[in-house]
Amino acid sequence: MCVCQTMEVGKHGKNATHTGSRGVLLEPFIHQVGGHSSMMRYDDHTVCKPLITREQRFYESLPPEMKEFTPEYKGVVSVCFEGDSDGYINLVAYPYVESESLEQDDTPERDQPRRKHSRRSLNKSGSGSEHKEEKAGLTSETSESIQDTKSLKSFHSDVPFQMLDGNSSVSSEKISFNPWSLRCHKQQLSRMRSESKERKLYKFLLLENVVHHFKFPCVLDLKMGTRQHGDDASEEKAARQMKKCAQSTSATLGVRVCGMQVYQLNTGHYLCRNKYYGRGLSIEGFRSALCQYLHNGIELRKDLFDPILSKLQSLKAVLERQASYRFYSSSLLIIYDGKDTRCETYLERKAEMRLKQMDLSLADKLQDVGSTESVSFQPKVDVRMIDFAHSTFKGFRDDPTVHDGPDMGYVFGLESLINIIEQMRDENQ
Ligand SMILES: Nc1ncnc2c1ncn2[C@@H]1O[C@H](COP(=O)(O)OP(=O)(O)O)[C@@H](O)[C@H]1O
Ligand SMILES: [Mg+2]
Repeated sequence: MCVCQTMEVGKHGKNATHTGSRGVLLEPFIHQVGGHSSMMRYDDHTVCKPLITREQRFYESLPPEMKEFTPEYKGVVSVCFEGDSDGYINLVAYPYVESESLEQDDTPERDQPRRKHSRRSLNKSGSGSEHKEEKAGLTSETSESIQDTKSLKSFHSDVPFQMLDGNSSVSSEKISFNPWSLRCHKQQLSRMRSESKERKLYKFLLLENVVHHFKFPCVLDLKMGTRQHGDDASEEKAARQMKKCAQSTSATLGVRVCGMQVYQLNTGHYLCRNKYYGRGLSIEGFRSALCQYLHNGIELRKDLFDPILSKLQSLKAVLERQASYRFYSSSLLIIYDGKDTRCETYLERKAEMRLKQMDLSLADKLQDVGSTESVSFQPKVDVRMIDFAHSTFKGFRDDPTVHDGPDMGYVFGLESLINIIEQMRDENQ
């Protein structure tokens, strides 16, 4: 019997799913576009991920002026793997109790054990250029038994997701979740399940769900900087990471695509790209990817250029002031809504007017109101830094390496992004 079953989660927000034992049932987070840990939905406004102590401490010591550009840190929970009375296996969160829960790290690296004997890959819809080693998923037995989890059964959204293959053609397979998040989730469950015989408790980090404001979140995950390995990386890991940087736009632009989903108004689907696609892009390819991220299937969202540029410029100014900080392997999420309701209402109203063939003067008035609205209408855009598992700054956790000045690799990536988007804006006026 799990000791945590008698406890109650103290802090939870909107629409948390409670279990019989009054924990919170974690569900897969369907809008995960990159990374390798399984992001879970805690409630409408909160996601959680396996805790890495460095990342937790980094969130706790964030400079106040960076907070606008990071998810809000909401604390820690203990998570266990529980069977329920229907025979399903669930991940359930309980209040964190000191000394009971396992941290997933405290080794200098957080690489997951590599599964060398996998017999088949889970990532059927991934890009063809994937590295075999990293593509390796679960053994067939594990992957089948993992279907017993209720959370996987509930893993769906009403809007289908479509993977694009390496040749940019749309896969005929349409699925009801971001394919990358399913892959991560299955791997995480398998790992925890194989260790769960002793009913372990795991520490998870609670973070603001930064896409919760968006009805149809379009998400671009960009790995920033010219270097990805942390100061504590082994020689082998540093060499692997440096190779990935040298062979991708990380070296030439200081940024590479690590995943994306973009809602297509014409088909009602999300198009998805994964990190393998991003790693293979040339500078020109990176520009096209950015263009695709800003295209809704009907037109280029020119209205997004200025709001994104202004956020990127503010972030750049903030980071230029953070001396000694390094954000190795962290990502920048750019987020906007693929279907903005305010815009929709305006278009619908115009269409309605035409249908009713109302008198011209009134239609003209509405046109005027509409155009004023569309001029002042600024789509909501968000730019957030995530993933601080390899970040450092002077005096942080007795880190032996102290870096001089701001993270210029990161700033270079921001400058590249700003230049490319400005150019796109100027070419599409
Ligand atoms: N706070 C958040 N809100 C919403 N989505 C998030 C948040 N943090 C991460 N994600 C999603 O999860 C993915 C992986 O996150 P990340 O923190 O980079 O995980 P990892 O440590 O496995 O690399 C991101 O690409 C993004 O889609
Ligand atoms: Mg990451």
